[in-house]
Amino acid sequence: MKIAPSILSADFLNMQEDITNVEQAGAEYLHIDIMDGHFVSNLSFGPAAVQAIRPMTKMVLDCHLMVERPDEYIQQLAQAGADVIGVHVEATVHIQRTLALIRENGCKAEVVLNPGTPLNTLTELLPFIDAVLIMTVNPGFGGQKFISEMVDKVRRLAQIKKEQQLDFEIEVDGGINDATIKQCAAAGATVAVAGSFVFDGIDPRQKVELLKKLAND
Ligand code: DX5
Ligand code: ZN
Repeated sequence: MKIAPSILSADFLNMQEDITNVEQAGAEYLHIDIMDGHFVSNLSFGPAAVQAIRPMTKMVLDCHLMVERPDEYIQQLAQAGADVIGVHVEATVHIQRTLALIRENGCKAEVVLNPGTPLNTLTELLPFIDAVLIMTVNPGFGGQKFISEMVDKVRRLAQIKKEQQLDFEIEVDGGINDATIKQCAAAGATVAVAGSFVFDGIDPRQKVELLKKLAND
């Protein structure tokens, strides 16, 4: 399982140090939450932040779009250095077009499902995706409680992946800590986002190392 520290909970005045620390601890992904104050009520980063971060790290830049009209940001994000772009199925009625646009721009296409959105919305999208992000909280803020019912959703998705012999990452996001990561790994998740657990302490390195160990034991 890969670890994706979420910089939403990093120290904004010492971002470079936080990023270097988690990379040196072995994190493979860096999760960047992009919020527009409409799809979710919070505001966070945009393409300029992705561009500033790109030269700092070799980690996979995993951009999670929580915005209305996601198509308007794909090209800018790709040019800024995004590797994976995740779009909520709830954010657009033209999700297939958005996923195709992500691939056309040279990035991995990820579809994101809110906790209340059923897995069957993915049925027609499987040929067009490289990853699925199962939200384990309702998006918008760091530090929320893991919704444990989502573990079964991850398990059912992993089953579909196995039955259909497909190859896509299954990512989980929200409330991931030393206890919940084990449940997600056992259910078949392959990438775990963690914000507050990694950064709300004194040593983000130690937290990443712990998560890696627990997820892969
Ligand atoms: C929530 C974001 C998450 C957030 C996770 O909307 O998508 O990526 O940073 O934070 P924690 O790990 O604190 O739940
Ligand atoms: Zn996120």
